[in-house]
Amino acid sequence: MAADRPSAATWFADSFGDDYLALYRHRDAREAERAVAFAVRHLALGPDDVVLDLCCGGGRHLAAATRHDVHPIGLDLSPVLLAHARASGVTAPLVRADMRRLPFRSAHFDAVLSFFTSFGYFSDDGDDLAVLREAARLLRPGGRMMLDFLNREHVLAHGLGDTVDTIDGLRVEQRRRYDRDRNTVDKTITITDPRQPTAPREYLESVRLYPADALHALFERAGLRVTERFGSLEGEPYQRESTRCVIVATADHDTRE
Ligand SMILES: C[S@@+](CC[C@H](N)C(=O)[O-])C[C@H]1O[C@@H](n2cnc3c(N)ncnc32)[C@H](O)[C@@H]1O
Repeated sequence: MAADRPSAATWFADSFGDDYLALYRHRDAREAERAVAFAVRHLALGPDDVVLDLCCGGGRHLAAATRHDVHPIGLDLSPVLLAHARASGVTAPLVRADMRRLPFRSAHFDAVLSFFTSFGYFSDDGDDLAVLREAARLLRPGGRMMLDFLNREHVLAHGLGDTVDTIDGLRVEQRRRYDRDRNTVDKTITITDPRQPTAPREYLESVRLYPADALHALFERAGLRVTERFGSLEGEPYQRESTRCVIVATADHDTRE
């Protein structure tokens, strides 16, 4: 029996649960610690700074941020991942909301951080702009945003194709395709349990492949002035085939209502 086919319009509400945590367990606390250390150092975040971890997932960056002495707040849409964050000892405030409508006061935050490709999820790219406008609104004048996003050229050169792995006894098949019409990289994940006669579980991940310049332009349209572009969270300079596209921007305008 085949699983229901996930929808490209709503996949992000269905794909981040227990199976996501198992599949991406290599995206761990150590990696998060290095990412947060880079952000704290690069954005010169201090003990009084209020920082939003936008799409905080299971809370690995929140735990690291707390150790770095800033005041993090986590926001995510997934109740499963938020519960995981709390159960794993995250003490920061956690808020369940959609990144397009952030339930916070304007100019409340010193920094907004978005780690590990938590962007480009919506069928309408106007929604991606809405996310950045919301981030700009939340930042105090001079506040900074760091977005850790995939790099289009790297994905097209190295990130497509199929893999089959065994994880916890489950067969995990992943198919990665470029959809030229929608300019997205679409990953279909099919999980089969050979020990159980149950239907396979199928997930979709569909992320818009913004070229770095287009991402830059989107930030500027949202009122965020791009100050740097890195090719990794180690601070390597951005190049065409860098593994990541990390954008740092400043909220120049007074975004208070
Ligand atoms: C790739 S995961 C990254 C999670 C976390 N930043 C990390 O590195 O572990 C993307 C996250 O975005 C969240 N998410 C997806 N759509 C969302 C939305 N519309 N609003 C808020 N969060 C969303 C997911 O629940 C998931 O936790």
